[in-house]
Amino acid sequence: MNSSAKSPAQTRVLTGITTSGTPHLGNYAGAIRPAIQSSTEPGVDAFFFLADFHALIKCADPARVAQSRMEIAATWIAAGLDTDRVTFYRQSDVPEIPELCWMLTCVTAKGLMNRAHAYKASVDANALKGVDPDDGVTMGLFSYPVLMAADILMFNAHRVPVGRDQIQHLEMARDIAQRFNHLYGRGRDLFVLPEVQIDEDVATLPGLDGRKMSKSYNNTIPLFEGGAKALKAAVAQIVTDSRLPGEPKDAEAAHLFTLYRAFATTRQAAEFRAALEGGLGWGDAKQALCDLIEAEIGPMRAQYADLMAHPDRIEAILQAGAEKARRVAMPFMDQLREAVGLRQPAAATAGKKAAGAGKGAKARLVSFRDEDGRFRQRLFAADGAELLLSEPFEDPKLLNQLGRQLAQADLSALQADAQGLVSLEADGQRWARCAADRVEQVRQALAAL
Ligand code: TRP
Repeated sequence: MNSSAKSPAQTRVLTGITTSGTPHLGNYAGAIRPAIQSSTEPGVDAFFFLADFHALIKCADPARVAQSRMEIAATWIAAGLDTDRVTFYRQSDVPEIPELCWMLTCVTAKGLMNRAHAYKASVDANALKGVDPDDGVTMGLFSYPVLMAADILMFNAHRVPVGRDQIQHLEMARDIAQRFNHLYGRGRDLFVLPEVQIDEDVATLPGLDGRKMSKSYNNTIPLFEGGAKALKAAVAQIVTDSRLPGEPKDAEAAHLFTLYRAFATTRQAAEFRAALEGGLGWGDAKQALCDLIEAEIGPMRAQYADLMAHPDRIEAILQAGAEKARRVAMPFMDQLREAVGLRQPAAATAGKKAAGAGKGAKARLVSFRDEDGRFRQRLFAADGAELLLSEPFEDPKLLNQLGRQLAQADLSALQADAQGLVSLEADGQRWARCAADRVEQVRQALAAL
């Protein structure tokens, strides 16, 4: 059938990173490295983005937010993200996301948001302090899960790799999607229900004191900032027991060993464990850990520094990413507007379309991906009526090409089948079927594209 070389339906994997801090070693091993790794797997269509609208909820320091956006973008690129293969963009460069956020806000039960952990934690803290329950709670914090749902649903992500603290947000995104599908889908699912993905085998790094590495515990090891010197200084502060060189160490109980293992091959880890049990001193062990981490991130650090010195390069990559993301978001948003009754006047959409819209052309051909990841088109008449839905195609180019060929074809002689449907074909391939009494409208719409 569709003789394209493209792989079967792809899984769309999407995750966001709030731009309110500087990435540390724990972010790298726990999120960035595994995400980049999974983006190289066959069948994965990865969407990674900088959640800079989310940053405004947590951080009212404009310089910090601006700096963090740059640092996080540079970190992902330097860590080896293939920005041609994935879609890497900034949330605030895709205006369809806040637009969708509003549509979702209008179907989200307030009671659902009342149950959000982050909001409840603020209310509980206020109760403890004896102040008003909503003291210091903004609508941004309260509606945080709706914006996150918009991030995910905008791109119909199948899987969302996140930390455990985000599970509830994913459940809420599914709830909201279901409600929207029910209200507006007319028997069809507009949104894919996203699945949360918790990677059990991904390292959660301990910090200097052995608790989870986190900015809020002030126990982090820097990733690139401060160079090899800062890395070494931090590693020197890792807490160990007081056993002396020559005394056998308990590797399993030492978080220094957990850190080592996160960067080592199985064999290196086994050798290091044996060395510790054989009496390796903590000073030497720290040096070995430093060398191991440095071997992985040292080369990346040079590229990071280079990018940070050339913000225009980062910007160009993000702009290209935004364009790629909007190629998905814009046509889907057209469908969603249509679904809620906010269809744009044809004149406005014709104006919005790039070259080719021509004088007063009002019919529209909208491409999108269905929930199986395949490409389809909908044809709309000048008055906005939907005329047809194409067959699904693996290859978007072939789909476009068939549509174009049919615009040139003579459709008048086509015979209807027993159900009164006419098959629109080019090169022996079916592009779409439509009711026989619609053929003339289809012909006119195709000619006006
Ligand atoms: N809330 C996420 C966090 O703090 C960041 C985020 C925003 C996100 N939007 C998202 C993660 C969409 C996954 C998908 O970690």
